[in-house]
Amino acid sequence: MSVGIDEISFYTSNYYLDLRTLAEVQNTDTEKYYQGIGQEKMGMAAPDEDIVTMAANAALPLVERVGSDSISTLMFATETGIDQSKAAGVYVHRLLNLRDNCRVVEMKQACYSATAAIQMACALVARQPDSKVLVIASDIARYDLDSPGEATQGCGAVALLITANPRLVEIHPEVGNYTEDVMDFWRPNYRSTALVDGKYSTKIYLKSLKRAWENFREASSLAFSDFSYFCYHLPFSRMAQKAHQQLAKLNKSGLSLEQLEQQIEDTLIYNRIIGNSYTASMYIGLTSLLENCRQNLAGRRIGFFSYGSGCVAEFFSGTVVAGYENWLHRDAHRQMLDARKEVDYDEYLQLYRYPDPRDGESCEIERGTTGRFRLAAISHHKREYTVC
Ligand code: HMG
Repeated sequence: MSVGIDEISFYTSNYYLDLRTLAEVQNTDTEKYYQGIGQEKMGMAAPDEDIVTMAANAALPLVERVGSDSISTLMFATETGIDQSKAAGVYVHRLLNLRDNCRVVEMKQACYSATAAIQMACALVARQPDSKVLVIASDIARYDLDSPGEATQGCGAVALLITANPRLVEIHPEVGNYTEDVMDFWRPNYRSTALVDGKYSTKIYLKSLKRAWENFREASSLAFSDFSYFCYHLPFSRMAQKAHQQLAKLNKSGLSLEQLEQQIEDTLIYNRIIGNSYTASMYIGLTSLLENCRQNLAGRRIGFFSYGSGCVAEFFSGTVVAGYENWLHRDAHRQMLDARKEVDYDEYLQLYRYPDPRDGESCEIERGTTGRFRLAAISHHKREYTVC
């Protein structure tokens, strides 16, 4: 019996800022963003959108298909949690009308936790092959204005259904891990934006890739040449290109830069116009590969490198299942991305600065999202979600 990803769907906000606009305001060359970091647009969450509403929007198509009664566990991965105690997935559980004996938990380790959730979901399904586990990763990436990280913001959620005999990607049990206590990126409880040592974070990312890959090679007989495509954690698309070149060099692949680019370019398409979505980003990258690659991917092996600052990293592998193309949500994703509205710099600042009450003050939240779920109000310290 194989275990893996049976269905995948993502969601991002209906607003974005073109990095050309940011570059103009900052008097920076647009190419620094378009080429240097490889990003063109970044998603900006609407005032009435948060990790819960994005997660529910991402998961809705999956739940509508399999039925809300069939999901036994919901694992919610995020690093931009809205509560220190209550799992964000519990709100999603209600919004999606999941059964009341469905287990719900929230997981955290920077951008890595969705991978931990998927591995644990695979283990649950291996124990109970009839079960279906819903893994949702949802984040809003925020850095300080006028900081180097500002151009790498973004937002998004991805929902993955983990089952036995999956229809999209079989996940193999061999993994390579690397953990080290470092301060490359972190967000203390009292801050709404991340603190980051940007250049150092890119170095630690690359070091973790090397160490996780070496550990993977001890666990698996697979070599670099056994993989057709690679999905990397995507803080910005240039990071994946650097990582892939490093991995190829380490393995003396002999592939040209063009050949290496072909192994990752389709994974970058969506993230380039959404931005960093932290826990969701690598899996939006996988969706981008499955939905945009012109080759038939059936039987092709994919290498995954998941990285979460702080840091924990994992390399693992998957094989695309024959017929996968019949179960994608390609048209819906493209329509969603095409329908987004560009904001100018002032509108961007308004979205960035939209009040996020922390003192119990009650407020109605203005409508902005075009999604199915919205955060309508905060009252008596309670978040009130509605279905549109
Ligand atoms: P910076 O320091 O302002 O940028 O910010 P830079 O000066 O290093 O320039 C970036 C690249 O653009 C360079 O290319 C320049 O040469 C090039 P490189 O040398 O790196 O190949 N460039 C140009 N190219 C073409 N035309 C031009 C031009 N000008 C410059 N005119 C930095 C870069 C990544 C530090 C910043 O964006 C940042 O701090 N980002 C946030 C941190 C981050 O994303 N780190 C990534 C690794 S850590 C990670 O992935 C985890 C994370 O997702 C969080 C989590 O796990 O939870 C962040």
